[in-house]
Amino acid sequence: MAARKIILDCDPGHDDAVAILLAAGNPAIDLVGITTIGGNQTLDKVTHNARTVCTIAGLVDVPLYPGCTRPLLRAPRTAGDIHGDSGMDVDGYDLPTPTVEVADGHAVDFIIDTVMAHESGEITLVPIGPLTNIALAVRKEPRIVERVKEVVLMGGGYHEANASAVAEFNIIVDPEAAKIVFNEPWQVTMVGLDLTHQALATSEIEAEVAAVGGPVADFVVALFGSFREAYRANQGFEHPPVHDPCAVAYLIDPTVVDTLRVPVDVEISGALTSGMTVADFRAPASDDCHTQVATKLDHRRFWDLVIDAVKALS
Ligand code: BDR
Ligand code: CA
Repeated sequence: MAARKIILDCDPGHDDAVAILLAAGNPAIDLVGITTIGGNQTLDKVTHNARTVCTIAGLVDVPLYPGCTRPLLRAPRTAGDIHGDSGMDVDGYDLPTPTVEVADGHAVDFIIDTVMAHESGEITLVPIGPLTNIALAVRKEPRIVERVKEVVLMGGGYHEANASAVAEFNIIVDPEAAKIVFNEPWQVTMVGLDLTHQALATSEIEAEVAAVGGPVADFVVALFGSFREAYRANQGFEHPPVHDPCAVAYLIDPTVVDTLRVPVDVEISGALTSGMTVADFRAPASDDCHTQVATKLDHRRFWDLVIDAVKALS
């Protein structure tokens, strides 16, 4: 089967870094481009981090485009409590000075141009940060909606939340953008916290990655270590949930992630609930329901995919 062509829209971010490595290191994925979005840290910082990840993994041929610096309407909000001041703070690993450069142009234009230059149904969008770039691309060139194969995003949750009582970080940062993305009539898979909170990087998994050896494995081990500290201190997790690669894993092998087709919309005006992804489980979804939510992760097979990618890049 031909590799799935994806654009990874990200804000590295510890778990974004692992998502980049998984996408680059699995032959079922053709990583057509990486775009960045201000989220976990400022655009400059996350773009620098994306360049660093590409440098460590030797991704010299994947174009990297910076996108929007801030949400559509709201003030920027970052996640320094989890990802540190740099957006990708790691202990015990000397991050190299990035040698991979950004391409000329803006992420939104790259997304539009790439989708329009490919056959309908060829490009899949994989946003794993706030949805500002994707929403702006839709508004600038609405024809991408019918040409994109599907949108598989990390964000939201139908029961779980992490950035407010009811909202997840990527969605609460730019709820208006998320509302646009969820309401366009393309296929949307929400790989939300209900699923990603199952993707725990346990000590056993970390030991398996360490056993691979080499700079990419050492980098991932360092990412896990710092991510674990942050999740213990701020979210009450013993081991960190490595959210973003779950969306990539679903594209590599959909049987690793169970899904359920239900309508999903985004709350943008609630005084207490802004950024909530509201999934309606009351009845069987109608035939034209274009959204689904990820429910259950095969933990072992997910981590096998990540470890295989680390080996492939080592
Ligand atoms: C999401 O928020 C970010 O901090 C992570 O990179 C992930 O995309 C989890 O809520
Ligand atoms: Ca992210």
